[in-house]
Amino acid sequence: MDGSDNRHVIAVSDAEALAKIAAERVLARIASNAGRVAICLTGGSSPKRLYQLLATDTYRNQIPWDRVHWFIGDERFVPANDPLNNMGTARQIFLDRCAPASNIHPIPTDTADPEQAARRYESQLKSFYGADRLDSTRPLFDVVLMGVGPDGHTASLFPDYPAIAETERWVVGVPEAHVEPFVPRVTLTLPALNSCREMLFEISGLDKRAILTRVLAGESLPATRAHSVGETIWLVDRAALPENFRER
Ligand code: 6PG
Repeated sequence: MDGSDNRHVIAVSDAEALAKIAAERVLARIASNAGRVAICLTGGSSPKRLYQLLATDTYRNQIPWDRVHWFIGDERFVPANDPLNNMGTARQIFLDRCAPASNIHPIPTDTADPEQAARRYESQLKSFYGADRLDSTRPLFDVVLMGVGPDGHTASLFPDYPAIAETERWVVGVPEAHVEPFVPRVTLTLPALNSCREMLFEISGLDKRAILTRVLAGESLPATRAHSVGETIWLVDRAALPENFRER
């Protein structure tokens, strides 16, 4: 399965509209689960506006913070307070102001190496999930946010790296990145990322158009292979949308 079968592309006007629709979708997923909610955040610049919106009164007041847990799909292996740290960025923009500390689940980066961090995070995820094996009828996450890089990577799953082929592990260490920033990474694998009710890609700007053209053509890239066991949404703004592409 290449992931295109449950993929739905939603075209929006610009980055601001994109962040608002993403925020509405996150809220809708939270509202549809009366129990404990798990949201897997992402790094890079694409989700920053969404994070800012979630901290504004309009959205903040609608989130039952006590029962929402926040994870991260990949991390740069740098100290928690380094500007490159993905969870550090999310914490700074909204989590530290809004979420109880015990509901924030960063990938540790104070371990000996990325592999040890990966093992530790995998065991945290398994204990949160309450089982060692993923059951597609009971997804790990309610929402997984994603971005795409110029080489078609998503999370820190780079084209042709062993991590993309992983079928057992939930989290792995990635000793070298394929694109900037060139720091080691820790990433959730496809089995873990795909275990969600909704996977939500945010794709904005002309710079993304070339790679999005390849993804939508079905080329086998990590971002194409990432797809939820539930719904997979690609939120795309006009600048990023390939010419002649119509909503499907
Ligand atoms: C990371 C990300 C990565 C990111 C894409 C897109 O740690 O770098 O999680 O997968 O989502 O590279 O990045 P931008 O949003 O900055 O374009």
